[in-house]
Amino acid sequence: MPLVSMNEFLPKAKANKFAVGQFNMNNLEFAQAIVEAAMEEKSPFIYGVSEGALKYMGIEFTVAIAEAAAKKSGLPIALHLDHGSSFEVAMKCIRAGFSSVMFDGSHYGLEENIELTKQVVKAARAMGVSVEGELGTIGGVEDDLSVDEADATMAKPEEAIRFYEETGVDCLAIAVGTAHGMYKGEPKIHYDIIQQVADAIPVPVVLHGGSGVPDEAIRLSIAAGVGKINVNTENQVACTEAIRQALEASATVIDPRKYLTPARNAMKAVVQEKIRLFGSSNQA
Ligand code: 13P
Repeated sequence: MPLVSMNEFLPKAKANKFAVGQFNMNNLEFAQAIVEAAMEEKSPFIYGVSEGALKYMGIEFTVAIAEAAAKKSGLPIALHLDHGSSFEVAMKCIRAGFSSVMFDGSHYGLEENIELTKQVVKAARAMGVSVEGELGTIGGVEDDLSVDEADATMAKPEEAIRFYEETGVDCLAIAVGTAHGMYKGEPKIHYDIIQQVADAIPVPVVLHGGSGVPDEAIRLSIAAGVGKINVNTENQVACTEAIRQALEASATVIDPRKYLTPARNAMKAVVQEKIRLFGSSNQA
């Protein structure tokens, strides 16, 4: 199966109240772990690729790896630019074979964010590529909970609804209290904001910063209208802990396969658990 746009599975997720996972791809082992878990669960999924990961892997390798995963698995897989910062980078990814892009204009004012996102949607749609937009500020890895909980960073439902109506994005990331990276405490998710926006627009709300969010909070978010959930840090932690353990267990190991195999297995277990929690098993 070729790579697909998110519209291959997001409408079904919205209608049947489950969420599709975006698992970030940082290297070959991440890609393999994610697709192996999804194959066992018969689940659609999204490979998220940040601009940093693109730089690390190279755009040709990134696309080739995702295409190989789609071909081998037969699953509906979207290859999605995560937090694309410009029209140009989005177009570069589309030309290289990405089936989906995020344009993150959240650092612009509302009007400019709408205008820039519209341009990406127009160009992407012509090529059958899906688009995610973002509104409100989702905290970064350095941010602590008190900053992320500040109401000033939350998306305003009426603005999110207008953003959807004017841009026509295929899914919409809104700041609702989660943050990228692990949490020091429990994130306080504003389910009311999710619900208000999700009830008013026909596409799913996206939850960024899925790592470390308690299972019950994930279930409540999906019930409120989240249909796409992003996970990266939990896989990074699982990967690095497994490598650290393997290296600590043997001072003489030199074959990378000896520590990358447990790392890949650890990530596969994380992804499989998330897929089950998100309810996307057997939805491929
Ligand atoms: P985490 O790293 O917190 O899981 O967030 C991932 C993410 O939202 C990528 O856009």
